[in-house]
Amino acid sequence: MAVRPIRLYGDPVLHTPSHPVTAFDHALRTLIADMIDTMIDAPGVGLAAPQVGVALRVFVYDVDGVIGHIVNPTLTLTGDLHEVEGCLSVPELRYARHRYAHAVAEGFDQYGEPLRLEGEGLLARCFQHETDHLDGMLYLENLAPDDKADALKRIEAGPPPWTN
Ligand code: NI
Repeated sequence: MAVRPIRLYGDPVLHTPSHPVTAFDHALRTLIADMIDTMIDAPGVGLAAPQVGVALRVFVYDVDGVIGHIVNPTLTLTGDLHEVEGCLSVPELRYARHRYAHAVAEGFDQYGEPLRLEGEGLLARCFQHETDHLDGMLYLENLAPDDKADALKRIEAGPPPWTN
């Protein structure tokens, strides 16, 4: 297990859709273990594989003391939330945005067994944020227009730390 470097806004791997996992092998389990180490070290509530430079559809989470992972997730979403969000790939910046309040994530565990996760509030938000990463999307892309303009202005002004 190891902490891997976290890729930052502008790295192409963060802006490109990731590939479905087809091999539930030792390399996948090492990736997931390293992602959990990296998330805890950051620290963060979630981390998607492209954030460590791997274009595969996997994310890990650490919400309310529960650490987990899911491979090839699909989401079923209901309800509404509007809360402040951040991202380890856009360090320090935080903006409010819409998410669904309830999420069911269906996919597979690291051994290829079917997995169904259900989350409310922060956990639901985490599932959506991380699945967006797997689609090559950062949370900034669906901010209110003035917030998005503010974020891009701060990012384009120079390297991190970015703050708001
Ligand atoms: Ni993120």
